Amino acid sequence: MGFKILKKEELIPGQTSLFVIDAPQIAKKAMPGNFVIIRIDENGERIPLTIADKDREAGTITIVFLVVGKSTAQLNMLQEGDDILDVCGPLGKATHIEKQGTVICVGGGTGIAAMHHIAKGHWEAGNHVVALIGARTENLLLFRCELNGFCPEVMVATDDGSVGHKGFVTEVLKDRLERDSNVTEVVAIGPVPMMEAVAKVTEPFGVKTTVSLNSIMVDGIGMCGACRCSVDGKTKFACVDGPEFDGHKVDFSELKARLWQFKEQEDESMGKFKKECTCHGK
Ligand code: FAD
Ligand code: FES
Ligand code: MG
Repeated sequence: MGFKILKKEELIPGQTSLFVIDAPQIAKKAMPGNFVIIRIDENGERIPLTIADKDREAGTITIVFLVVGKSTAQLNMLQEGDDILDVCGPLGKATHIEKQGTVICVGGGTGIAAMHHIAKGHWEAGNHVVALIGARTENLLLFRCELNGFCPEVMVATDDGSVGHKGFVTEVLKDRLERDSNVTEVVAIGPVPMMEAVAKVTEPFGVKTTVSLNSIMVDGIGMCGACRCSVDGKTKFACVDGPEFDGHKVDFSELKARLWQFKEQEDESMGKFKKECTCHGK
C-alpha cells in the first residue's frame, strides 16, 4: 500500500509528466513553496519534487517532473492506478505570501509548474500577479492556460520566438521593471542559471527577489547536510531553511558545482537502468 496515482498526464511525451496523487494528509497542510520527497520502491532513491498544486477537498496533490535521470525515468514508467511507495511531506518552508502590490512570478521549463502554485497564492492574497514564463519553444510552455485563468498579465518568452518574445525571460523582465517602479517582489523558479540571471537583472532595481533552490537533497529534514548552500556568507540547509532564499544573497557558483558532484554515478546508474529495463523505450 502506497500513494495511488489517480491521474497521469504526459505534458511533453517522454520528457515531462504530471501526476495527481491521492495524499489527503499532505493536501491538508500543503502550502505554495512546499515540496515532497518520494521513493518509488524499497530500493529507490529519495526524489524531492515541488507540490505544483493541491486539492484539499479531493485530498490530492499534483507533481510535475522532468525526466533527467534514472529515478525520474523510472517514475515516468508508472501509470494511473499504480502506487508510489512513499510520499513524504509537505517539506520546506512555505512561501512568504502577504498582500504587497505587484509580484512578478518568473518560471522556466518545469519550474513553471512550481511557480504556478506560488503565483496562485499571491493572487489569492490580493496581489497583482504578473506571470513571466519561458521555454525553448511554444509546446514546452507548461501551465499557460492555468496561469491565464487568474493572472491579469501573462508574458511569454521562447528561445526560438515561436510565441511571445524571442529570447530570454530576463530580457522581458528588465523591460517590465524599467516600465514599472511599483513592483514589490520578483519570484523566480527554474533552472539555476535562469534564477541567477533573474537575480542579476533585479539587483540594480533594488527589487526583493526570491529564488527556490533545487539543491541535492536526501533526508529533507535537516539531518544529512546534502542540501548545504551559502546564503549571505552563511551556511543554510535548503530543505529546512528554504527552499526559498533571497536571490541577491545566494552563492550560485557553489550551488551549481554541488549539483554536479554525483554526475559520474548518476550517468552510470542511468546506463545500467537502460540496459536492465526491458520496458524502456516501448
Ligand atoms: P539523476 O541522474 O540522479 O540526477 C540528475 C541531476 O538531478 C543531478 O545532476 C542533480 O543536479 C539533480 N539531482 C539528483 N538527485 C537529486 C536529489 N536527490 N535532490 C535534488 N536534485 C537531485 N524536478 C522536477 O522535475 N520537478 C520538480 O517539481 C522539482 N522540484 C524540486 C524541488 C526541490 C526542493 C529540489 C531540491 C529538487 C527538485 N527537483 C524537481 C529536481 C529533482 O529532484 C531531480 O531532477 C531528481 O532528483 C533527479 O533524479 P534522477 O535520478 O532522475 O536524476
Ligand atoms: Fe538533508 Fe537538507 S536534505 S539536510
Ligand atoms: Mg538519481
